[in-house]
Formats: sequence, structure tokens, C-alpha cells
Amino acid sequence: MNNKIFLLCLLFTGVFKILSAQENTLQKSMTRGENIYSANCSSCHMPTGEGLGGAFPPLVNSNWLKNQKQIIGVVIKGLEGEIKVNDEVYDAVMPPFNQLSDQEIADVLNFVSNSWGNKQPMIKLEQVKAERK
Ligand code: HEC
Repeated sequence: MNNKIFLLCLLFTGVFKILSAQENTLQKSMTRGENIYSANCSSCHMPTGEGLGGAFPPLVNSNWLKNQKQIIGVVIKGLEGEIKVNDEVYDAVMPPFNQLSDQEIADVLNFVSNSWGNKQPMIKLEQVKAERK
């Protein structure tokens, strides 16, 4: 009898562990990130990430997405001055979004980095924490 209870507990712990691991799969992160993107980013980078003329750079196929450390920094600290995105020059100002939590920043960047044909490895919470310091 006691053995059965023990096995049952083991089973529940296992199921719980699997469920909480899924919480942070790329798909879940992107779903959360989509809302954060609509609320904070789409007004400049546009709902489908193509940017706006010469004013706001595109996120679709942006060469910046490969440097995860750098784009985490862009969201936390903002960005200004001349930059090149896909060989086009932009010189405008992006405000910092340091009011977003570390998880929200990971989520919004996972959404951006894996939408509209983009495909990048998942950004983890620890990577954002490391840049926040
Ligand atoms: C007020 C307009 C504005 C908003 C809102 C905004 N950005 Fe930006 N973003 C810019 C501008 C302008 C630049 C380029 C800055 C420069 O010229 O130095 C930029 C650059 C970037 C870059 C690097 C260049 C590229 O195109 O890949 C990334 C990544 C980025 N933004 C992501 C985001 C994310 C994610 C959000 C939402 C959390 C966001 N931006 C919100 C205006 C904005």
C-alpha cells in the first residue's frame, strides 16, 4: 500500500516537472511575446515587422537578430545613432524598454526572432538577466 502511494507521488512529481518545463518552450514564449510585441513594438516596427520606410528598421530577416546579446541590450537600454540593418542605414532613436520584466524581454525577442520567416535559437531568461546588470 505504502509503495503504491510512493509511486503515485513519483508519477505526479514527474508530470508536474514536464508541465513546468513546457511553460518555457519556444512556442509558449512566443505566444506571450506576441502580446508584448503588439503593445510595445508594433507601432514602430509595424505589426508584421517590416519597419517603416527609412525611419524604423525592419525586424524581418534583420541581421541583428543573430546577435542575441546585442538585441537584448537594445530592448533594455534603447538605441540611437547610425546603424546598418541589412545594408541600409538608419539613424533614429528607439526608447529603452527596461520596464519590461526579464521574462517579457525574452518572450518578445523570441516572438520577433521566430516570426515572419525568422528562425533563431530560443533566448533564455538567464541571457536577459546577464544583460540587465
Ligand atoms: C518609438 C519607435 C520604436 C519602438 C516602440 C521600438 N523600436 Fe526597436 N528600433 C527603433 C529604431 C528607430 C531603431 C534603430 C535605432 C537607430 O537608428 O540607432 C530600432 C532598432 C531595433 C532593433 C535592432 C535593429 C533591427 O532592425 O533589427 C531591434 C532588434 C528592435 N529595435 C526591437 C524592438 C523591440 C523588440 C521593441 C519592443 C519591445 C521595439 N524595438 C520597439 C524604433 C522603435
